[in-house]
Order: sequence, then C-alpha cells, then structure tokens
Amino acid sequence: VRAALAQAWGGPDCVAVVDVAEPVVQPGQVLVGVEAAALNYPDLLLVANRYQISVEAPFVVGSEFAGRVIEVSDDVVQFRPGDRVAGATMVGAFAERVVVGADQLDPVPDGLDWASAAGFGVAYRTAYHALVSFGRIRAGSNVIVLGAGGGVGAASVDLAVLMGARVIAVTSTADRADFLRDRGAHVIVDRTEPELARRLKQAAPGGAALVVDPVGGSAAEAALRALEWGGEFVVVGFASGEIPRIPLNLPLIKGARISGFELRTLAQHRPDLVAAADRALSELVRRGLRPAIGAVHDLDHVATALEELQRGEAIGKTIIRIGEEGRALR
Ligand SMILES: NC(=O)c1ccc[n+]([C@@H]2O[C@H](COP(=O)([O-])OP(=O)(O)OC[C@H]3O[C@@H](n4cnc5c(N)ncnc54)[C@H](OP(=O)(O)O)[C@@H]3O)[C@@H](O)[C@H]2O)c1
Repeated sequence: VRAALAQAWGGPDCVAVVDVAEPVVQPGQVLVGVEAAALNYPDLLLVANRYQISVEAPFVVGSEFAGRVIEVSDDVVQFRPGDRVAGATMVGAFAERVVVGADQLDPVPDGLDWASAAGFGVAYRTAYHALVSFGRIRAGSNVIVLGAGGGVGAASVDLAVLMGARVIAVTSTADRADFLRDRGAHVIVDRTEPELARRLKQAAPGGAALVVDPVGGSAAEAALRALEWGGEFVVVGFASGEIPRIPLNLPLIKGARISGFELRTLAQHRPDLVAAADRALSELVRRGLRPAIGAVHDLDHVATALEELQRGEAIGKTIIRIGEEGRALR
C-alpha cells in the first residue's frame, strides 16, 4: 500500500511516499480504499510533534478522507463493502487504504464528489460549532473571520454568509480577497497592513457580534478590540504559531464572552451539539453547499502540499487525489 509516511518528527521534508503493510481490520473497524484526502493544519503539527497529542514516528500522515469501504469487521453492521464513506482520524489518511473505527465514518450522499466529500467534515464542523454552538451567530450582525483564506476560515465565511451575517473576512493576499468576495464575504480586511484593530473597528461600525479565530497571534487582540458590548470571541486555533496572551480587562470592559472547543473531544463532552451540527450540515450539503477546493495534488506530492499549507499559501481546502476515481479530480 502506497502511503505518505512521516519518517521522523520535523518539517514536511520528513514525509516521503513509500510502500507500507496493508492495515488490518480489528473489531469495530472498517477498511477503506481512499479516493481523496484533505489537508488540515493539525497534520503539520503532528509531523512536527507540536500537536496536543504526540504520535511516535514513523506514522502515515493524514486526518481526513473519502473513499469506498473494502472490508468491515464482523461486528460492524452499518457499512458494507462498496459504500461511499468519508471519515476523520488522527493519522493514516494519506494512503491508498486506511483502517478506522466505524464510528469515525459517515456515509457520503449521492452526488457529492470525492474532493468535496474528503474536504468537508473537519472544516465545516469546526466552522459550524464556532459560529453556532459557541458563537451564537445572529443574522444581520457583524462577524469577523480571521484566517479567512484557510480551510476553517473559508468554511466559516461560507456558513456565516448563509446564516445572513455581515461577514468581515481578514486575509492576506489579493487572490484570497477575490476568492472570499466570490464566496460572499461583505468586507475584506488585509491582515498584513498596520493598525489591524483600527481597521477592523472601521469595518464593523457599532462593533462585531462575533469573532471566529483560527489564527491567534497579534490578530486575536485586534479582533477582540473590535467586538461590540456583549460580543462573542471563539478560539479555534493558532495557525500563526503564536498563542496570544489576552489582557483580561478587554472582556471585562466589553462584557464579552471568550470560548473555545476542540472538535476532537467535543463529542465526549457535548454529544448533543455534535448531533445538531451534523444534522444541520447534512441538510446544507443536500441543498448544495460544497467546500472551497484550492489545490489538488497527487499522493506523491504530499510534502509539497504540506509546505504550501505551512507557508499559508493554500486557499480553501487542499486535496490529495489517491484512488482511481479520486485521480480523475483536477
Ligand atoms: N478547535 C478545533 O476543533 C479545530 C479544528 C480544525 C482546525 N483547528 C485549528 O485551526 C487552525 C486553522 O486550521 P486550518 O486547517 O483552517 O488551517 P489553514 O488552512 O492552514 O488556514 C490557516 C490560515 O490562517 C491564516 N494565517 C494567518 N497567519 C498565518 C501564519 N503566520 N501562517 C500561516 N497561516 C496564517 C492564513 O489565512 P489568511 O492568509 O487568509 O489570513 C491561513 O490560510 C489551526 O491552528 C488548526 O489546528 C482547530
């Protein structure tokens, strides 16, 4: 089985495509032939051994995929060989075959292409929980999305637009600004120019009701300062590489609520929120919502794809085409 193996902890150059042993199905598990997989920022963190959880190298990289069921263990009743499925796992997805627990898989609806199926789950679930479960988004209010050109950011822009908010997308390049305008963002703010806090206040007259922050660093405090009284700030991640230290007088003065969550552990603590989000997102997919797909790479080029993600160059979701059906993707 061809797979992108992190041979040691480090940068994307530690990842090479090699032959590995076929994964074996254990009780409760399903073997999937991967058609397409999607990159997520935590893939980089796991390879660098900077994630919340450490995975001993060597390991097969990749946390999100879609493909066809090849084999199920005897105790699995909800899937059969040939079923189209999408799933999330910690590692193992950038490979021709992956084994995961049946509870980590969802059926892929007819009509959903492999790239969309692979790239939807993590970004849109995260965005939904940030906006709705924690952010309590309101139609007509100002919503600031940091890292708007990235996977979670672009999904947050999509959903916030669908939910009727006035979306202020914070991003870095003209290409990304065009991409975000096309997806319906109302105002674009360039994070690379000085005085971000002042420009965000200008972009959100009266203040923002909600900030979605997958970036951290200095942009976090700038966005918090642009909140209206009683606003919500949702901590999603730290793609800037810097965990911000926020002066606590800011939420005091603003009556603001700062919250955060981890998709990985949310089902343990709030299965109700996870079930409600999955129901709402399935309905949006049925009505035509599709993830923004940026670059599509072959399995042999996983290291290049990870480098682009690391440099913050990937727009929307980066897809790895793997199986015969997935290889037809452009
Ligand atoms: N809490 C959760 O459950 C959860 C779930 C999924 C992901 N996450 C976290 O959310 C963050 C974003 O994930 P993602 O998959 O959306 O990543 P991504 O696709 O790489 O997007 C990150 C975006 O952040 C922006 N950015 C700002 N400063 C940056 C810098 N110094 N270097 C790189 N990018 C920078 C860039 O967008 P612009 O150029 O448009 O500003 C970039 O595209 C990660 O920290 C990830 O671990 C958390």
